[in-house]
Amino acid sequence: MPDTARRAPLPPAQSPFAADLAAGLAARPKRLAPKYFYDAAGSALFEEITRQKEYYPTRAEMEILRAHAAEIGALVPEGAALVEFGSGSSAKVRLLLDAMPGLAAYVPVDISGDFLTQAAAALRAEAPGLAVLPVAADFTQPFALPEAVRGRPLVGFFPGSTIGNFDPDAARAFLAHARRTLGAGSRFIVGVDLVKDPRLLDAAYNDAAGVTARFNLNLLARANRELATDFDLAAFTHRAVFNAPARRIEMHLVSRRAQAVHLAGRAFPFAAGESLHTESSYKYTPDGFRDLAAAAGWTPGRLWTDAAGLFSVHVLAA
Ligand code: SAH
Ligand code: AVI
Repeated sequence: MPDTARRAPLPPAQSPFAADLAAGLAARPKRLAPKYFYDAAGSALFEEITRQKEYYPTRAEMEILRAHAAEIGALVPEGAALVEFGSGSSAKVRLLLDAMPGLAAYVPVDISGDFLTQAAAALRAEAPGLAVLPVAADFTQPFALPEAVRGRPLVGFFPGSTIGNFDPDAARAFLAHARRTLGAGSRFIVGVDLVKDPRLLDAAYNDAAGVTARFNLNLLARANRELATDFDLAAFTHRAVFNAPARRIEMHLVSRRAQAVHLAGRAFPFAAGESLHTESSYKYTPDGFRDLAAAAGWTPGRLWTDAAGLFSVHVLAA
């Protein structure tokens, strides 16, 4: 998809969201891919999460990007395009732009199309000399880069530890797919959250203001808006728990009572206490991530952490 131009919306029953939700509600345990969090409301809620005092990843990664902007900028050759996977508000690239004087184009790629359009417009206004070329796409699927970057050296940027939202096999497949997209000679700058005291993780995913709970429940609100499901939001509760053997925080929506939810004429029963698993957020050791990247065909290079050792930023070479 070359730009943010809209396709005609699919009827709800045929949309990928409807198909994945039906399959996920029929699965045991029930599950749904976290990419469905991100409609415009979900993207705005994620931004609000990043401002919560308990949510350390954004602050820690920004500390690293500020401290090492010059070294990161030096990875970007004259005339290059920077491709950000899952760009959200594009807040982090702003920390690097001054250190990338040769950057010709910035390509933010995101599934949340309306939010992406607004974020791109805001960045264009701030950096008028930079070509900002948004691509509204699911980055787990093949997608076309804008014509304007064809032939340019490409540098990938994947901050936020969004890589952690893939199960390990899917993470490896994504990294291999990104390597094919970025091509020979490219570099990939990846932010990865680190294994740490589970109490910090518990606090970050159960913030006191309840923003993460609202983010999680927005998934059900989104299904009601887009697919005419009848989820009763008051009948589900947010739960985030650390799964120690798998080294991941899991987010669930837990049914407060026995109930049935309807989608496209089908009823999906929930038992009291039954969960819909909505997200895993894997935490890596530095070597664990380097091994994963190597298994996907990348050569791991430099890595930096913040002073508290909470988060890491890796440079990978194709
Ligand atoms: N890079 C930003 C945002 C991280 S939040 C930061 O570091 O703060 C994760 C972002 O990835 C969201 O903007 C979400 O819309 C996007 N995203 C999640 N899954 C996606 C997918 N499959 N394809 C494209 N974008 C996706
Ligand atoms: C985007 N992703 C890496 C976030 C995370 O921490 O897994 C999404 C999120 N989920 C709950 N809070 C934030």
